[in-house]
Amino acid sequence: VTDTYRLADTTVHRIGYGAMQLPGPGVMGPPRDRDEALRVLRRAVELGVDHIDTAQFYGPDVSNELIRGALHPYPAGLALVTKVGARRDAEGQWLPAQSPADLRADVEANLRSLGTERLTAVNLRRMDEHGVGGVPIEEQLGELAALRDEGKIAGVGVSTVDAGQLDAAIATTEIVCVQNAFSLVDQSDAGVLDRCTAEGIAYVPYFPLGSAFPDMPKVVDRPAVQAVAARLGVPAARVGLAWLLARAENVLLIPGTSSVAHLEDNMAVADVHLSEDDLAELATATA
Ligand SMILES: NC(=O)c1ccc[n+]([C@@H]2O[C@H](COP(=O)([O-])OP(=O)(O)OC[C@H]3O[C@@H](n4cnc5c(N)ncnc54)[C@H](OP(=O)(O)O)[C@@H]3O)[C@@H](O)[C@H]2O)c1
Repeated sequence: VTDTYRLADTTVHRIGYGAMQLPGPGVMGPPRDRDEALRVLRRAVELGVDHIDTAQFYGPDVSNELIRGALHPYPAGLALVTKVGARRDAEGQWLPAQSPADLRADVEANLRSLGTERLTAVNLRRMDEHGVGGVPIEEQLGELAALRDEGKIAGVGVSTVDAGQLDAAIATTEIVCVQNAFSLVDQSDAGVLDRCTAEGIAYVPYFPLGSAFPDMPKVVDRPAVQAVAARLGVPAARVGLAWLLARAENVLLIPGTSSVAHLEDNMAVADVHLSEDDLAELATATA
């Protein structure tokens, strides 16, 4: 397992951090424990995280404010990656904001709230599952490419896209990363991952542990994961993350956590070496 991969104009460690668990319950409002949230971010960077995934709509406005509060002025080489395409209403509903003008406004909002002049990558978060439709991906990526030409974004990515949309994206402009749901319990995106590996595009699985949503299957609950973890004497989460790292060289991890203890569990993933037998056993863990 190589320990770095290219992400736009930056080379990042393959173990990053996802900031979606920092706001309050349901990704709304302030954290239960603000000091712990700030400690998580500072400890992540101390332990070598140089790739943080966020969004203005986490909180909304909460994750970015915490990142700025904990880490600004940012260390050289820290890749801040955000996503645009959604907003939240006062009840916490996820609202599509998919027009080119929405995307531009949201990139500007991220630059302001994070206090930076340039984002390492911005993912177009498609919201097709919310039935938005209508806005051609080429127009959306054209706007993000214009923001890249203006120097506000180093690289353009896409999120929650299917194989056809990825083809259209690659045909439209240079794509540096794809952020789709993928984990031991949900391997339905394997085809897109393999395409990204072949193209040299970073693949950043979201929900790498199965998410924080109570109704979704969890990697740490799978018997195969628990069996391998017990054999190796490591936490189950670390086994699920190590499997992802072993899956392909272009996988960049951004596990989400609100706790320093879990962060430290997850950061030690590089020390886990899965044997062929371990990998074969884990391959059966799909929910
Ligand atoms: N592009 C998109 O549409 C999209 C969608 C979702 C997420 N994302 C990004 O992907 C990142 C990762 O996804 P996610 O945070 O939703 O889900 P995840 O990383 O699969 O799982 C997070 C959940 O796992 C728990 N957890 C973390 N480390 C653990 C450990 N060592 N042991 C036991 N439990 C552990 C967390 O609880 P604790 O807080 O208690 O640790 C939280 O409940 C997000 O943070 C976000 O940046 C992107």
